Amino acid sequence: MPDNVQSVYGKFVSSGYYQKNMGGLRGKYDNIRKYWEDEITRFAIRPFLLDTIHACLMRLERLRVVDLGCGSGQGYELLTTIKKDEVGIDAHDHDMLGPDMFGNYLGVDISHDMVKQAEGMYSANEKVRFAQADLNEGIGVVKEHPAFDLYYSAYGSLSHLDDEKLENLLVEIAHHARDGSLVVGDWLGKFSYEWPCHWGLKPEESYKSYTMSWIKDNALHEEVESFPIRYWARDELLELFKRASKRSGVKIEPLRFLDRSVFVGRHMDTRQYNPHAQPIRNFTNMLHEDNLRTNLEHLLINYVPVEGFDEQNRYFERLQVAWNNIVHFLMERLSPQANENLLQRYSSVDEQVFYILKTLDRIVENVRWIEFGDPRANIIEPQLGYALRSLELAFQEGKGHSHGLLGVLKIHKK
Ligand SMILES: C[S@@+](CC[C@H](N)C(=O)[O-])C[C@H]1O[C@@H](n2cnc3c(N)ncnc32)[C@H](O)[C@@H]1O
Repeated sequence: MPDNVQSVYGKFVSSGYYQKNMGGLRGKYDNIRKYWEDEITRFAIRPFLLDTIHACLMRLERLRVVDLGCGSGQGYELLTTIKKDEVGIDAHDHDMLGPDMFGNYLGVDISHDMVKQAEGMYSANEKVRFAQADLNEGIGVVKEHPAFDLYYSAYGSLSHLDDEKLENLLVEIAHHARDGSLVVGDWLGKFSYEWPCHWGLKPEESYKSYTMSWIKDNALHEEVESFPIRYWARDELLELFKRASKRSGVKIEPLRFLDRSVFVGRHMDTRQYNPHAQPIRNFTNMLHEDNLRTNLEHLLINYVPVEGFDEQNRYFERLQVAWNNIVHFLMERLSPQANENLLQRYSSVDEQVFYILKTLDRIVENVRWIEFGDPRANIIEPQLGYALRSLELAFQEGKGHSHGLLGVLKIHKK
């Protein structure tokens, strides 16, 4: 295990990066994390968590969660604010996992500083506990507790482990879990446009040096050290799950994979691993920021194909053209010379894209009644942000084309 992981994350904590008060344009909780990544994670988990909550209800128990590589407890807030999807817009109480159904939450992390910060933040919440543990050694202290309903791990924590350690961890989870427990994992996607230099890596070469260099100048005023990270393709993870199933004798069923942050990963802005990357995260963050107008031209993506990767090139080119269509449409629609037949011109585009364009068209039309303030910055631009987020979901393949590759698994013991 690289021994600098603790110290690197310790520095992030003391720089203030792991707090929630850095505004929407930078920091761990920038607008993309809040409005895209956390929401897409909730969306991915929701139907399966609903079934798990139902199973708990039938056993007359409350839901119990362990968060592996919990940082300062971000998973607690994410999970307790998942919305019920069937609830109407008129309802004010719409959390799926309210306090009555939430049993307890145990967060484990290798970093003492992270755990200390988490304990400080949640000291008033009796249901939340934290412990220091190195997942390279398996689930460790988690074994002192009864089986959990959800083994949750998010935002790349499991990519810190190499293949052997991840397989061992899954085997231990499979033994510790109960029938029907959910496992949520989240890894760095091998085929992200942030790092085409890694696309051709064989599995045995894919545990590579990585740095969260965007934190420099963002919160920290020194170089950020690197540590190894495993970049995963979905098919490689499926193989690993099969091996863990066989070794543990427990069926581990993959339920869903989802690519999160396809063109908006943090390394798009750093260009550290791809000279053609553009700062799309920065400009998309701006879309969601109050009272700030964004130069929409900066959102136009020029995807540069990567030789020898036809499948990835097809996926990214299609997404890029759809993305740019949406941005171009809005630019034209906002222009005082907007053509009356503008929408008509796009009518033969992909159905899902056309739906987005129709919606943006209506939004621009409907803000005219607002006489002061800045409807473009505060109403139209955030909706462009949501439109682009919808596109990410509409063109979803879940193969590792993104910064984060999310997987939901189910443990079967009967
Ligand atoms: C990118 S952060 C994600 C934090 C959090 N899960 C979130 O949702 O934001 C990765 C976390 O994994 C932790 N970590 C890295 N290697 C670990 C290991 N071997 N065992 C336990 N935690 C580890 C780090 O300390 C850090 O808090």
